[in-house]
Amino acid sequence: MDLYRSIAPELAKVEKEIEKMLRGEPEEVYGMLHPFIKRGGKRIRPALAILSFNVVGGKGDEVIAPAALIEMFHNFTLIHDDIEDDSQFRRGEPTLHKKYGIPMALNSGDALYTLIWEKLAHLDIDCEKFRTLERLFSSDFKKVVEGQGIELEWEHNRKFDVSEAQYFDMIGKKTAALMGLSCETGALLGNAGKKERAALRKFGEGIGVAFQIQDDVLNILGDFGKYQKEIGGDITEGKRTLMVSHCMRHAEKDERKKLLSILSAHTGSKEDINYVIGLFRKYGSTDYAKGHAEGMVADAKKQLEIFRDSEHKKSLASISDFVVSREK
Ligand code: IPE
Ligand code: IPE
Ligand code: MG
Ligand code: MG
Repeated sequence: MDLYRSIAPELAKVEKEIEKMLRGEPEEVYGMLHPFIKRGGKRIRPALAILSFNVVGGKGDEVIAPAALIEMFHNFTLIHDDIEDDSQFRRGEPTLHKKYGIPMALNSGDALYTLIWEKLAHLDIDCEKFRTLERLFSSDFKKVVEGQGIELEWEHNRKFDVSEAQYFDMIGKKTAALMGLSCETGALLGNAGKKERAALRKFGEGIGVAFQIQDDVLNILGDFGKYQKEIGGDITEGKRTLMVSHCMRHAEKDERKKLLSILSAHTGSKEDINYVIGLFRKYGSTDYAKGHAEGMVADAKKQLEIFRDSEHKKSLASISDFVVSREK
């Protein structure tokens, strides 16, 4: 992406690192992972790690392998998330469990997760920094799984009275934690001071929350050709998004009832999906969510003020704008 022009050489090294790490045997386990990662993906997490490293004046290649590991963890969560959500498409192609069945996709996801820890143990970095990195990785990976669990429980127990605070807590864990980790990893390895590290962490988490809200909006208003996941899939899934809770607060009683019944039915019916999209439009729920995401990005950007001006700082700001303007 043009957005990453200033770090194209580093991102190419991340790709090489990923390829090296995924060249494993047996084929039954590792074979599906390489093409899955190579389907594309925006690589926003490694880009954040590299730019954070650069913005604090980091030198050398220490950030490359950890950035690759974060991208691998992200891919692991996608494989398992698609099973949990029973999603059909990922990056424009059938999800791994649709292609290979749940048992094999689940196991290859586990293999990817295991590989991360194996590769982490072999990183050649200073002992103290390594210990901090290990703590950061484990604590943020845990948050992602917790966020996923919270969301899955809402569905399992048919809980629809989810407050905005609960929604933000959930996406803060399932999505923003990994973006915060990406930025903090770059800062740590670039030898940032405490204040700089905390600012980048906050920046990453802020844009991470906005990223998820925008993702939820694109699922409703997006274009499959760009978004590469099924449009309206969140309605079939019955996902509790910011738009759902906004709409629930503003819709008429009968509309609310129908909204709940559609979200509970796991229906793929175009008519039902269009009804919900219409309701979101009628009550301005999509605009509300978008406005919220834009506000979060504006706030997150303030964290960059402590860094001196550079091309890398500009790129971080551009990525934060992209998070809410993106169509894919
Ligand atoms: C998808 O993440 C999962 C969410 C957090 C919404 P990305 O949109 O970063 O996925 P890829 O890597 O670009 O496919
Ligand atoms: C995003 O999950 C976060 C993780 C995968 C951990 P979602 O279920 O919200 O994202 P998509 O829409 O499937 O990409
Ligand atoms: Mg999903
Ligand atoms: Mg999910």
